[in-house]
Amino acid sequence: MNILITGVSTGIGATTAELLLNNGHHVYGTVRKANDAEKLALHPAFSALVMDVTDRPSIAKAIATIKATGKPLHAVVNNAGIAVSGPLETIAEEDYRKQFDVNVFGNLAVSQEALPLLHAAREAGETNVKIINVSSVSGYVTAPYTSLYSASKFAVEALTDGMRRELSSFGIDVLSVAPGPVKTPIWQKAKNQTKAFEGTRYAHILNKLGAYTDSAEAGGVAPEVVAGAIREMLEKDKPRPDRLVMKKRAWLVRLLMLSPKRWQDKVFLKNMKSNKRY
Ligand SMILES: NC(=O)c1ccc[n+]([C@@H]2O[C@H](COP(=O)([O-])OP(=O)(O)OC[C@H]3O[C@@H](n4cnc5c(N)ncnc54)[C@H](OP(=O)(O)O)[C@@H]3O)[C@@H](O)[C@H]2O)c1
Repeated sequence: MNILITGVSTGIGATTAELLLNNGHHVYGTVRKANDAEKLALHPAFSALVMDVTDRPSIAKAIATIKATGKPLHAVVNNAGIAVSGPLETIAEEDYRKQFDVNVFGNLAVSQEALPLLHAAREAGETNVKIINVSSVSGYVTAPYTSLYSASKFAVEALTDGMRRELSSFGIDVLSVAPGPVKTPIWQKAKNQTKAFEGTRYAHILNKLGAYTDSAEAGGVAPEVVAGAIREMLEKDKPRPDRLVMKKRAWLVRLLMLSPKRWQDKVFLKNMKSNKRY
């Protein structure tokens, strides 16, 4: 398959690209800085594309490069994402807009630009044509102080379900993979965002949050686990459209989603006290 993956500089994107390359696929991987693709570029079936998902012309240019190869594009993995943290009361407008610009509008823009190629692949008789959105367990339940990130991933879940229903008659499948904590650089990036706490009523949370973040990351799965799930979803004919990837007990998250909200509140507040996230 020929697969476009956004955000392959580090983490889940880099690991997924590597796994797919080692299993006979061609990967178009996007980076914001060309030299971030140097390691993957050693693989002959890898093509690096420079793209910022908040910059529509850069998306269009990358897609035009794929189109110019004349080969079909079978799948898009919308992986690029950021996690903004901070209390909802104090988070800066610039930061909450950025959260949605990257995770939600960036995701939609990449799908919109790539869809003509996916339709063309279907019309040329290719099968297994799909979009996979990298969502999160935070798109199912909302932990405090990463609520904006959660809101963006709830939106990704809605985009996934809506787009799957809109595209099913064209034979294009749209799926979401929702990992729980994964050991990637995203955690340290989030931990460095302290400005929404400092000098506010929430300043005392900062100490707690560092330990909470470290424990969530330490208890996370390796990015290879998520990469494996994405590979399976790409290669399978009719995969489950909402794959939750947790270290253990994914069913607990599904149960938590169904439980009364006041009960969910208690779980999060208790976990916050014990530095456990889920
Ligand atoms: N790690 C977890 O625990 C976890 C759990 C659930 C879901 N996820 C999701 O998994 C996806 C990958 O995250 P990760 O954990 O692998 O984190 P990561 O290592 O920080 O990777 C994020 C990737 O997104 C790229 N990116 C960020 N902003 C971008 C933009 N404006 N345009 C294009 N690319 C951009 C980054 O590129 P740069 O290097 O240029 O910034 C990087 O390649 C995200 O959607 C995240 O929400 C992660």
